[in-house]
Amino acid sequence: MINKNNIPSHVAIIMDGNGRWANQKGLLRAIGHQGGVEAVRDTVEGAAEIGVKYLTLYAFSTENWSRPKEEVDALMELLVQAINDETKTLNDNNIRLLAIGDIDALPEKCRNKLNETIHSTSENSRMTLILALSYSSKWEITRAFNLMLCDFKAGKLSGTIYPEIVDQYLTTAGIPDPDLLIRTSGEYRISNFLLWQIAYSELFFTETLWPDFRRQHLFEAIEDYQKRERRFGKTGDQINNSI
Ligand code: FPP
Repeated sequence: MINKNNIPSHVAIIMDGNGRWANQKGLLRAIGHQGGVEAVRDTVEGAAEIGVKYLTLYAFSTENWSRPKEEVDALMELLVQAINDETKTLNDNNIRLLAIGDIDALPEKCRNKLNETIHSTSENSRMTLILALSYSSKWEITRAFNLMLCDFKAGKLSGTIYPEIVDQYLTTAGIPDPDLLIRTSGEYRISNFLLWQIAYSELFFTETLWPDFRRQHLFEAIEDYQKRERRFGKTGDQINNSI
């Protein structure tokens, strides 16, 4: 049973296994990605229903640009279509859309659709859905260094850099760090995702391939999360005595 008083505020997911799911069924990889959209739909609804406030989905990494052109094109097309189809549902469910990553690198059609939906959902407050697109953590951290350097040269930044200052230069500025990170498909890697932000996140790995992932899998991960003791570097006694 899920304890409604201990829902992770921010859940991040590395959606993996679309290609293998399709291969196992003798289908094209693009069909696997279509199956992935179904999983996204159910997971987003489930997250909002249970009271998650922020859901971040790793939809396309910086490294994914080096996949065959047909697959990249199909993914971008799918993204435009999915955002287009889901905008009404996002608004009906009071969900705000945001994106992190090198959005300028996306095809114009994709960028425009994304910005349109980000704008039309900007007042929604039940949950924030964050799509990581053309995102990688090393890209983001390098970008933050460069922005800090610019501000330093312009006299807008001086003295000592603290972690809270670094936070403000990341694409996730203003978004709390993930409490729970889920990766599907039986791979045990972080793959350049939110490296700074997951310093104290609980990690959950599942064998389920992303197109098979549904809200009940999310709820299982949350139940598992609720059994953990989050110590943030302190001792168990310190945590228990402070309650
Ligand atoms: C990983 O599976 C999945 C991706 C690279 C793309 C994820 C995209 C979607 C689920 C569809 C669009 C998303 C939204 C937010 C509407 P893989 O291709 O790496 O699978 P494999 O490791 O089995 O080859």
